[in-house]
Amino acid sequence: LLSLSIAAIGGYLLGSIPFGLVLTRLAGYGDIRQIGSGNIGATNVLRTGNKLLALATLVLDSGKGAIATLAALWLGGVEAGIAAAAGSMLGHSFPVWLGFKGGKGVATSLGVLLAISWPVGLAACATWLLAAAIFRISSLSALIAVGASPVVGWFLAGPAIAGLCLFIAALVFIRHHENIARLLKGTEPRIGARKKEAA
Ligand code: G3P
Repeated sequence: LLSLSIAAIGGYLLGSIPFGLVLTRLAGYGDIRQIGSGNIGATNVLRTGNKLLALATLVLDSGKGAIATLAALWLGGVEAGIAAAAGSMLGHSFPVWLGFKGGKGVATSLGVLLAISWPVGLAACATWLLAAAIFRISSLSALIAVGASPVVGWFLAGPAIAGLCLFIAALVFIRHHENIARLLKGTEPRIGARKKEAA
């Protein structure tokens, strides 16, 4: 239990690094929480118009989840990996440094899934890309990809990973409640469209 707690706490701390916030501030765009949706993730960083910065946010937010999960897997096995994966999702979504107001967990979930079971991660990534190609809405694509992941995880990696996918899906849906409201109203912006004010 001690090793699982250490894995979860380590994952939380790594996950809580808000790369989108740090990068946009360093690049001189000010506080990303004042731009577009106000989210600290790659989709919203793209609304600054800086594609490279958005890509860097995606890679680093995915990377922190992947590194936390891989380190725990290596040191403590699958259960520790799952604990670190869940911890990093919580750290990204509810970082202590930002008054527990963090991101929506999409990039981080991709990283942890690729690390814990690459077929499940690849399937989630492919589902996101396919949905994005059809709908061109980032949040909707994420909801479809994580929504499908428990079933995909069950078949590709078994019940333990499916359980992690269910936890991730629940967290990502909770963090997207404003996006879900906009999707239902038909006001959710398409990928790359810049929003003038925080919604
Ligand atoms: O990665 C989060 C995405 O699904 C939605 O981001 O900024 O449009 O709320 P945003």
